[in-house]
Amino acid sequence: MDLERLPRVRLAHLPTPLEPLERLSAALAGPGGGPEVWIKRDDCTGLATGGNKARKLEYLMGAALDCGAEAVATQGATQSNHARQTAAAAARLGLECHVLLEDRTGFADTAYNENGNVLLDRLCGAIVHRCPARDDMDTALDDLVAGLPGGADRVFAIPGGGSNAIGACGYANAAAELVAQAEEGGLDIDAIVLASGSAGTHAGMVTGLHGIGSQIPVYGVSVRAGSAAQEAKVLDLAQATADRIGLPDPVEAAGIRVDDRFVGPGYGIPAESTVEAVRTMAELEGILLDPVYTGKCFAGLLGMVREGVFRSGERVVFLHTGGSSALFAYPGWFEAKRAQAA
Ligand SMILES: Cc1ncc(COP(=O)(O)O)c(C=O)c1O
Repeated sequence: MDLERLPRVRLAHLPTPLEPLERLSAALAGPGGGPEVWIKRDDCTGLATGGNKARKLEYLMGAALDCGAEAVATQGATQSNHARQTAAAAARLGLECHVLLEDRTGFADTAYNENGNVLLDRLCGAIVHRCPARDDMDTALDDLVAGLPGGADRVFAIPGGGSNAIGACGYANAAAELVAQAEEGGLDIDAIVLASGSAGTHAGMVTGLHGIGSQIPVYGVSVRAGSAAQEAKVLDLAQATADRIGLPDPVEAAGIRVDDRFVGPGYGIPAESTVEAVRTMAELEGILLDPVYTGKCFAGLLGMVREGVFRSGERVVFLHTGGSSALFAYPGWFEAKRAQAA
């Protein structure tokens, strides 16, 4: 796996901590025991509250600077964490930043449209553009770039979620970091559970594990698409990423699993299981998840534990990919049970 030759700017606080979730694991244990749940804290990467995009942006901003770009533009849903971290990375590098925000949920309230990540986009100096929901957001982004001064010669377009073969290298790197960290700590990881959206995190992780010859199974929990479509998307991107970093063997489709049962009513709309998951993590561990990605992913992990997918004593790593700034865009959804009872 040859990541060293790729352009990269250091933006993230790495390595992120790998920690046991002791109270959570104890709470999940049944009479016959239960798995040991660990957490990889990619919510602690830095860049305006942290998250998975910091790793991808190291390679994407490396490519932008390599092209001599003076500005970057990207797209995402209104409460995009990727837009927020791109805005923060651009601020750090002195680049102009445009974010195109799609109204993917139809939520009309001010908190959703102006607070949370949107507030942070603006605070970091990004120019916010908006558009209604559409299927071809990367085309909308290209149109935006073409209309900006200097067009694509001056403005580097970063795809939604930072998910192309450049951005996914950040997670190939994360796979190597995680395995090295586990080895140093004498931890045998039996499974990794992560949120699967624009697919760069999932694809990069699978590719990175493949590149270092690790057999650790990765369980993706979808936040939007059905399992079959999401698995196909992850496989395509994983193969493109493997090609970029020069892996000789193809990525195997059998190693790509997506569970779509925790999406709930739709992208960006919390399900009951999302609310339970966010509350559980906060109440037992004091760790903040988010309403769109990690809340659904952790609901998936809880569901898999209840179904007995993991045996007692197995070590399961939950990848915390960030996003808690979006909690402030969802007032009223997540009040703690204790506060409600008062
Ligand atoms: C907090 C958070 N977690 C997970 C994801 C999913 O990662 P990916 O889009 O690489 O599949 C995202 C994507 O935006 C995110 O913001």
